[in-house]
Amino acid sequence: MCGIAGYIGARSAQEVVLDGLRRLEYRGYDSAGLVLHKNGKLHLEKYAGRLSVLEGHIHKNGLGAAHLGVGHTRWATHGAPTDKNAHPHMGCGGKFAVVHNGIIENYAKLRGELRSRGHEFYSETDTEVIPHLLEEAYEGDLGAAVAKVAKRLQGAYAIAVVAEDDPHTLVAYRQYSPLIIGLGEGENFLASDIPALLPYTRRTVVLEDGDLAILTTEGVRFFNDGEQVEKKILHVTWDEVAAEKGGFSHFMLKEIHEQPRALRDTISPRIIAGRTNLATEIGLTKEVASSIRRVVVVACGTAYHAGLVGKNLIEQMARLSVEVDIASEFRYREPVLDPEDLVIIISQSGETADTLAALREAKRQKCRVVAITNVVGSSVARESEHVLYTMAGPEIAVASTKAYTTQLAAVTLIAIELGLARGTLSSAKAEQLLSDLLQIPALVEEVLLQSDYIRDVALCLAQSESVFFIGRGLDYSVALEGALKLKEISYIHAEAYAAGELKHGTLALITPNTPVVCLFTQTHLQEKMVSNVEVVRARGAKTFVLSNCHPQVTASLHDMEIRLPAIDPLLAPIVAVVPMQLIAFFAAVARGADVDKPRNLAKSVTVE
Ligand code: AGP
Repeated sequence: MCGIAGYIGARSAQEVVLDGLRRLEYRGYDSAGLVLHKNGKLHLEKYAGRLSVLEGHIHKNGLGAAHLGVGHTRWATHGAPTDKNAHPHMGCGGKFAVVHNGIIENYAKLRGELRSRGHEFYSETDTEVIPHLLEEAYEGDLGAAVAKVAKRLQGAYAIAVVAEDDPHTLVAYRQYSPLIIGLGEGENFLASDIPALLPYTRRTVVLEDGDLAILTTEGVRFFNDGEQVEKKILHVTWDEVAAEKGGFSHFMLKEIHEQPRALRDTISPRIIAGRTNLATEIGLTKEVASSIRRVVVVACGTAYHAGLVGKNLIEQMARLSVEVDIASEFRYREPVLDPEDLVIIISQSGETADTLAALREAKRQKCRVVAITNVVGSSVARESEHVLYTMAGPEIAVASTKAYTTQLAAVTLIAIELGLARGTLSSAKAEQLLSDLLQIPALVEEVLLQSDYIRDVALCLAQSESVFFIGRGLDYSVALEGALKLKEISYIHAEAYAAGELKHGTLALITPNTPVVCLFTQTHLQEKMVSNVEVVRARGAKTFVLSNCHPQVTASLHDMEIRLPAIDPLLAPIVAVVPMQLIAFFAAVARGADVDKPRNLAKSVTVE
């Protein structure tokens, strides 16, 4: 969840590293720093606060030309966000500089050992054990020293290291946390995520666990467990604009508006001549589908909400029992799994530590695993037997939007494939759903055209203390996502509730003018929903309805209503969530919140 950028070559290392950190600031931004190898010395600048604080100091101090450097934007895990705790860390003699993403789980033990050998610590971080260990391991070969130190470390870590007495080498090591090498001509780059590399190169190598990379201006050598290894070069197709804001005010708004394209890219390649073809892509052959006894979906946050929708769809279409688990709970409850379970892991980043741990537990218990992720080469992708990629492109805003809707498309395709293979979904119904699915991008476009009115709804909610989201069936699962969006970017307290459950206690919180967002897309439940909404209105609630039911059904039930395009109720979540994403966005902007980088949050939670 931190950003790492490194460079060696003829350009200004300061400019390349700072530019990279800017593009990675979404990964963590409570402090930032860099080190440059200049005139035979390591020059360090690091400060608490946003990257702009570091940039201000650097431009004031005028660091001059350097051609080797590493930088870091931090999301604090051990030690508060302070100048001292910012990365890089240099140990006692300042001969090594290390930046790190992840957690060194055995750092306390190592710190004690090092202290007993006279090392003095300067920060509260787990990271700082690394440069001190390097001081002991280094015998003139930086790569060998890093490999030796890595063997002492336990936990998740992506690190980049420079040594004062070696101005020609930049060393990187990866264990669980992401690290990508960018290959240039006479220059090479490293970063914790692709956007930082895009202005300079599209030729990338995704480091795998245990990989050590030695970058010089002549090239990059890769090692694993002491052996030199060849690595596959991935050509990045994302263009630079795709990773920038593309003219929108915020990454989040850009990504909300990218959903039609992202959905099209995710859905269309998987529907050929009116049929899905997942049997080949994720091994869901008829035989496999028939052997599955249960489905277990594991994820966090928004991805977990996509799993809840998946549960509903798979149970309805494939008549399979589905369990959905929050990954941080799953991994510690000693789950009882069976080799006949299909475990679906959902993770946009593919690096969420809890979700990754759940994946490893599923594999340990010999389950068939399918991952739904948005990042090629991510840990989840590389450790899963089968991967169904969402083609959402880079999702930079911390709040997940296009990744969520494309995850919904993915779970819908899986549900249809399972239903067809198990004979519980008729070909006619499957064809109708697939045909409707192909229309979804256009329906999302239609909703986006209502942005001005949706902003008016948002402005009615923007100063609320608390907002309720209610729905039944699939609408309840989507309401959970709507509530999370509002909470995480506008900081308004919000709660999603199964509409039929309100009367069992929470109704006590509904008082005059309490705002309640009501979802009406599940036709078979609309009568029940009508009475639930009447109950809250009888207590003076202000109701904001999202509906694709007949207008007469909700005519007397709303203070404001957002009309949704008609679609099969099973596919409605993909469309119904879009107004709630926009409501959250406009409310957050109205409140002056930092929409793309909400407080306390980071884009990829690669630690527990
Ligand atoms: C999404 O809006 C949240 N920022 C967060 O809940 C996120 O969905 C969660 O951390 C899971 O991330 P992942 O999909 O990358 O695993």
